[in-house]
Amino acid sequence: MTASSQTTLPASRVHVNLGDRSYDILVASGRLQGAAAAIEQWCTSRGHKPGTGRLALVVTDIHVEGSHARTVAQSLRDAGWRCEIESLPAGETTKSLEQANRLYDRLIDLRADRHTVVVAVGGGVIGDLAGFVASTYSRGIPFVQVPTTLLAQVDSSVGGKVGVNHPKAKNMIGAFYQPLGVYIDTVLLETLPDREYRAGLAEVVKYGVILDAPFFEYLEAHVEELNRRDPDVLRHVVARSCRLKADVVEHDEFERTGLRAVLNYGHTFGHAFEALSGYGELLHGEAVAVGMVYASRLADRLGRIPPELTTRQVQLLRQLSLPVRLPDPQALSTENLLARMQLDKKTVGGELRFVLPSRLGHVELVSGIPAAEVTAVLAEFQQPG
Ligand SMILES: NC(=O)c1ccc[n+]([C@@H]2O[C@H](COP(=O)([O-])OP(=O)(O)OC[C@H]3O[C@@H](n4cnc5c(N)ncnc54)[C@H](O)[C@@H]3O)[C@@H](O)[C@H]2O)c1
Ligand SMILES: [Zn+2]
Repeated sequence: MTASSQTTLPASRVHVNLGDRSYDILVASGRLQGAAAAIEQWCTSRGHKPGTGRLALVVTDIHVEGSHARTVAQSLRDAGWRCEIESLPAGETTKSLEQANRLYDRLIDLRADRHTVVVAVGGGVIGDLAGFVASTYSRGIPFVQVPTTLLAQVDSSVGGKVGVNHPKAKNMIGAFYQPLGVYIDTVLLETLPDREYRAGLAEVVKYGVILDAPFFEYLEAHVEELNRRDPDVLRHVVARSCRLKADVVEHDEFERTGLRAVLNYGHTFGHAFEALSGYGELLHGEAVAVGMVYASRLADRLGRIPPELTTRQVQLLRQLSLPVRLPDPQALSTENLLARMQLDKKTVGGELRFVLPSRLGHVELVSGIPAAEVTAVLAEFQQPG
């Protein structure tokens, strides 16, 4: 898939309505050169100086620099911007205060001011880090995201959570800081490694289960297109996922009402699997895929859903080559998993709370779940088979 996957269809636009922090997400295919025009328009509409001679810092990582970040930088230069690139090591360890400092140094050396735009071209690591730096440099400078992983396109670039990791706690240092806009090109996903692509699909399936039954059915009907990364299907899937997440964020921007918790379906189990199987063993999206199956089984055990709902999720996840059980369930002890889940953000005083489906397209945050029920689900999957 190269030039053939370019399309002339118009970009989809998802408007995120957050008062004076509102912004647009544009979803196109094969139009990365159009990034400059969008950035220019977003800046001027917010009262920043017009582009010519203005400064942009493109933040990226070494896997994305040559393929995608340079195209964005060139499009800005062609439009008359002064544009520099800062390329960081790839991987989760880059989401650190140390790398943030490197970006502050670069901004200061470039004499960046309040009109300077930080453009994140990369996955969630680059988006979270660059957004955090933009939120704090000079008390906040314009920030644009050009997400290049499926996870970043459907999840991390929507909602304004930015931040870095503390050596002892992931995502512990951060802010809510909305971008000026998000520019998505689904063709960028063609270079994404297979596992990373599929991990992003797990979050897409999640949106269908928690919020949108017809979207889940659409995914079931387009498995083949998804597996070959068809840009037209991806454009729809990415735009719909962004819309669904934006709907939640619009009602709970600062994670106060509890609504945003629905996005954590599959994540209480998933985070425990990720942590105990050793970070890196399971990608986040893979852990979420398995976590959704466990959470759905738990809902079934509690009599909240019929077994077919779990079966449908298992089938779809399998067709997308995602795991539906742990690679080696016996390796993780039930007690450790339970203890880990009791540490989860959504527990209050050690009480177990889970986001559970009540039907396709609808979930509820359920409190007071007996540990014995959770243990029983974990034990079920520890049987060989
Ligand atoms: N802010 C939020 O709301 C939010 C939500 C979910 C996750 N996150 C964060 O997102 C991060 C994970 O993001 P991720 O999964 O995108 O990981 P990532 O940014 O590490 O990217 C995964 C890998 O893919 C490479 N890559 C990126 N785009 C590529 C492309 N087009 N072609 C080839 N290689 C490419 C990267 O270099 C990296 O090696 C985590 O730190 C997580 O905490 C944030
Ligand atoms: Zn997730």
